[in-house]
Amino acid sequence: MDKIRIVGEKELRGRVEISGAKNAALPAMAATLLTPEIVSLENLPYVRDILTTRELLESIGVAAEVLENGTGTFKAADAGALEAPYELVKTMRASVLVLGPMLARFKKARISLPGGCAIGARPINLHLQGLEKMGAKCDVSHGYVEATTTKLRGAYIQFETVTVTGTENLMMAAVLAEGETILDNAACEPEVENLADMLCAMGAKIDGAGTRTIRIRGVKKLKGCRHRIIPDRIEAGTFAIAAAITRGDVEIADCNPKHLTSVLGQLSLAGAEISMGETGFRVRGHSEISSKNVTTYPYPAFPTDMQAQYMALMTQGDATSIITETIFENRFMHALELIRMGADIKVEGRQAIVRGGATLTGAKVQASDLRASASLILAGLAAKGETIIDRVYHLDRGYARIEEKMARLGAEIERIS
Ligand code: EPZ
Repeated sequence: MDKIRIVGEKELRGRVEISGAKNAALPAMAATLLTPEIVSLENLPYVRDILTTRELLESIGVAAEVLENGTGTFKAADAGALEAPYELVKTMRASVLVLGPMLARFKKARISLPGGCAIGARPINLHLQGLEKMGAKCDVSHGYVEATTTKLRGAYIQFETVTVTGTENLMMAAVLAEGETILDNAACEPEVENLADMLCAMGAKIDGAGTRTIRIRGVKKLKGCRHRIIPDRIEAGTFAIAAAITRGDVEIADCNPKHLTSVLGQLSLAGAEISMGETGFRVRGHSEISSKNVTTYPYPAFPTDMQAQYMALMTQGDATSIITETIFENRFMHALELIRMGADIKVEGRQAIVRGGATLTGAKVQASDLRASASLILAGLAAKGETIIDRVYHLDRGYARIEEKMARLGAEIERIS
């Protein structure tokens, strides 16, 4: 099992190019099920979750090819096994994203329940309630959901909680349904908007993506398309914090700064110097890092996927900060490992109280989820001495060659197998 070794206290300097967004690529790949014609995707990040999704699509009968250069070609001519098996879904919860498109196109689907993960129970009840409102029958038993329908019909669906993949799943179900669907209290993430752009390029009729109310008018069929995946705003935010925590000077290129205004706003509050461009931005870290509280909320507010990385930065603040996590019930696992590196953090329910000024020292630590791994890398960059991070397969799910990108910026970092 690979590990990552870091020797800290090196300032990061230079330019890094951001890869495509995993969380835009996954729904886009699922959407290829909606048409028998060829779909080409560009700027796919070459990460584990993308390869897992390719494998899942192939098992459903899709001819799917993903190249390391980020291009993918898909053709769901006809159905294979209309099933997402437990062995695959347990490695990637986002497999649930094939449910909506499979129902819309093939009128049935058998999906293993994703189950929880390190950060929480992660139920899919809102996905299933929405599909049932559209005329699907969803039976849950033996760890699977069996969904069938004669024809999906448009419906008014109000989400009691903002759900990103719930919004995406139901948008994909609605594009071939009979009539109009309204998704209320929908997720506004850029990844949702990117999916809507792709579906419209296939001939779907969608208004309001990127706002809390999305209107979809069903069409008879969809055609193939060529679609580009947006840059990964969370990878960009992760490198921004790497520049701040090492007091470096990094240009973060090939991204859309507008997708992370809340993160960049928070970083400038914390003392980093940010200069914005059209397709990138520059972050200069200053010796003084100010402790500033933050609370995670759905987009466009500060994202939960940046919470762990921000906590690493706050261990270096000039006072005490409070980090409140409102999205997931157990997303402070990284705090325990940061404490082992010398951080002073107290977790109380949904809040972590981070006392700044900690002298971080390198240690053997263990990743628990994708973003927790990123926060351990950031802490390792700032720590005195050597840090060895175990279980980096979590990292490989969503970051393409992060250690190579960090090394090119001057970090002393390497992967050891
Ligand atoms: C997406 O997960 C992302 N994954 C997550 O990124 C991200 O952290 C999350 O959105 C929040 O922004 C992908 O896009 C593939 P939710 P998702 O449904 O859709 C509750 C990463 O690191 N909920 O928006 O699964 C849920 O428990 C990953 O890349 C229900 O109760 O998250 C949570 O408390 C981690 N019932 C809240 O809603 C449901 O049916 C938000 O979850 C669905 C969700």
